[in-house]
Amino acid sequence: MSPHNIISEIDGLGDKTAKKLIWNARNALGMTEFITAEDIDENTEYITTGSSELNRILGGGFQTGKLTEVYGPFKSGKTNLAHTIAVTIQLSKKQGGLGSAVAYIDTENTFAKEKIKRIAKRFGLDPKKVLSQIFHARIYSSDHQMQMIQKAETLCKTRNVRLIVVDSLMALMRVEYIGIGMLARRQGVLNNMIHGLSRIAETYNCAILLTNQVSVSMKGMFSANDAIGGNIVAHGCHFRVMFKTKGFSSNNSLKRRAIIVDAPDLPPEEAEFYITSVGIADTEKGEVPEAKGLDFEVEALYEEEEIQEVGITEDATNSGEYSLIDVKGIGGGTAKNLIKNGVASVDDLLNSDPETLATKISGISSKMINEWQTNAKALLSA
Ligand SMILES: Nc1ncnc2c1ncn2[C@@H]1O[C@H](COP(=O)(O)OP(=O)(O)OP(=O)(O)O)[C@@H](O)[C@H]1O
Ligand SMILES: [Mg+2]
Repeated sequence: MSPHNIISEIDGLGDKTAKKLIWNARNALGMTEFITAEDIDENTEYITTGSSELNRILGGGFQTGKLTEVYGPFKSGKTNLAHTIAVTIQLSKKQGGLGSAVAYIDTENTFAKEKIKRIAKRFGLDPKKVLSQIFHARIYSSDHQMQMIQKAETLCKTRNVRLIVVDSLMALMRVEYIGIGMLARRQGVLNNMIHGLSRIAETYNCAILLTNQVSVSMKGMFSANDAIGGNIVAHGCHFRVMFKTKGFSSNNSLKRRAIIVDAPDLPPEEAEFYITSVGIADTEKGEVPEAKGLDFEVEALYEEEEIQEVGITEDATNSGEYSLIDVKGIGGGTAKNLIKNGVASVDDLLNSDPETLATKISGISSKMINEWQTNAKALLSA
């Protein structure tokens, strides 16, 4: 699948030999036959983005086998999306993930371990395990970026990597190749990257997220935000999604808008989502999304070890015969959070209004509280 000029760069291989090798390899793999459309293998899989709205406009979630470019101004949530799907891909298929690992190519030094840990807890995953399944590379030049894209392919082969994040695609190239004189060379490098990634996406049915910045250009009297990288990026990516910060009343709102700009089989729809401390979500508080296929129970959102950290012992949560952590579904951290919000006992839990309480606690939905109340009743009547 590599073009022969790339193969012929290998020492000792001439142009002719390279071509012959490639043709023979294609023959061996049956790539030189047409197949009927009936036999085309289209096993697209989906990774939940953390927002059911965003999943919806993406046709079910972040897709495998394709390149997706997400572009938008600074603060629009691109890196937040990258962090969120780096975690959600590790969920089981039933839960909206692929049970797979991630290669994270970080050109801006914005990868945050703490954020990953929080997102992991939100989805009921072990933060330590989640971190161990994210292969991170800090990138310093565009040449280094190309090298690590190639290395990422090895991870697909050997470490069950099914998502490659490049955050961001153009940042380094933008500073290395300045001016119109360098444009052709820049586009050449970019072309190699996009083709390399495209091939990996197809070969390993891998999802690829490329984030991109925008440049502001004047179009007549109006300014317009265009993704940088030109036609090579625009045509090389299967899905193009624009993130927007504008159009919301409050300047410090964390509400964002996503727009499908280009996709082979998706309508040009829009969705609203939020950036939260636990990644991309449907609400400001970062509830667990109830997206298609996400019918899992979030168990203890926080680990028991946190009880010691904040000095809450089992006694402190005690009220009457049972304490909050005796209720099925409530872990130490959740209990801590409940107490902070005035729910100190099982009785308090039963007396609280799920809707109101949910708005106060990040990452907890009224549905979950309802469930805890049911579990608490069961506990008391047992
Ligand atoms: N813990 C958090 N809780 C709520 N909002 C947060 C949190 N961390 C970051 N944000 C918000 O997320 C936004 C930044 O998002 P993000 O880093 O994903 O943007 P980006 O599109 O990657 O931007 P850039 O182009 O600068 O890389 C900021 O508005 C910031 O206030
Ligand atoms: Mg960013």
